Amino acid sequence: MVSLWKKFAVALFAMALAFTAAAQQHGDKEYQPSVGQEGRDVIWVPTPNELIAKMLDMTKVTANDIVYDLGSGDGRTVIAAAKRGAQAVGVEFNPDMVALSNRSAKREGVTDKARFIQGDIFQTDFSKATVITLYLLPSLNLKLRPTILDMRPGTRVASHAFNMGEWEPDETAQVDGRTAYYWMVPAKVAGTWRVEGVGDLALKQEFQKIQGTLGGKPIINATLRGETIAFAADGRNYSGRVNGDRIEGSVSGAASGKWTAARTR
Ligand SMILES: C[S@@+](CC[C@H](N)C(=O)[O-])C[C@H]1O[C@@H](n2cnc3c(N)ncnc32)[C@H](O)[C@@H]1O
Repeated sequence: MVSLWKKFAVALFAMALAFTAAAQQHGDKEYQPSVGQEGRDVIWVPTPNELIAKMLDMTKVTANDIVYDLGSGDGRTVIAAAKRGAQAVGVEFNPDMVALSNRSAKREGVTDKARFIQGDIFQTDFSKATVITLYLLPSLNLKLRPTILDMRPGTRVASHAFNMGEWEPDETAQVDGRTAYYWMVPAKVAGTWRVEGVGDLALKQEFQKIQGTLGGKPIINATLRGETIAFAADGRNYSGRVNGDRIEGSVSGAASGKWTAARTR
């Protein structure tokens, strides 16, 4: 009889422990957020750490980066990026989540790298970011899209669960049934360029997809990755770096050497 009661008591204790652990799964002694709690434009649901690692891998975060997590929740993505040596910034509307994030950053020893701004992502300047991470909503991604596309070419973006509409991802990955999307902000190349000694390069662009003509003949295998452009025309392979209204690069194949282009329209 005694042993039955003992077993019951042990089971009760285990349940209480499990319940406490579940309750404390998120947050700290001062504040425990609940998954699904209201947020400014979207509720709080945390990204699992394994997926955060994948998103930081996809965006190749290093100590040279400035990472912004837009809608940073409990700060976990920012702290993970800071642990990779990046300067990492979270923008979060909920002040309790910001305070919690700051305490977590302190506990994790990354206060020199991780910082949190209490504010609205649509009112905050994140133009210095080299990497952006998101877990928002499709409509919010679309609202952010024009701002992101105006960022420095080569800026990398990762989004948990939600895409960017017609701006197709450069890469997708699955972790435990969840999807992460990856994009690199393309340079703006649409228009006409004068390629020195060759002729006009006319380019049409839809996000990272480009097509066009060089000297009136279609270019083939055209790619645009950030500021790096490549295509083939007339038996030559062109690759180059777009810098505003200039392109400089090298050409190989039927003829080899350097090439430059200047935007005329
Ligand atoms: C789905 S959670 C993602 C949290 C975190 N990025 C992650 O992946 O674990 C979205 C977060 O965005 C915050 N949020 C919603 N609208 C916001 C806004 N306009 N400005 C700043 N934060 C916002 C919410 O409070 C919530 O913490």
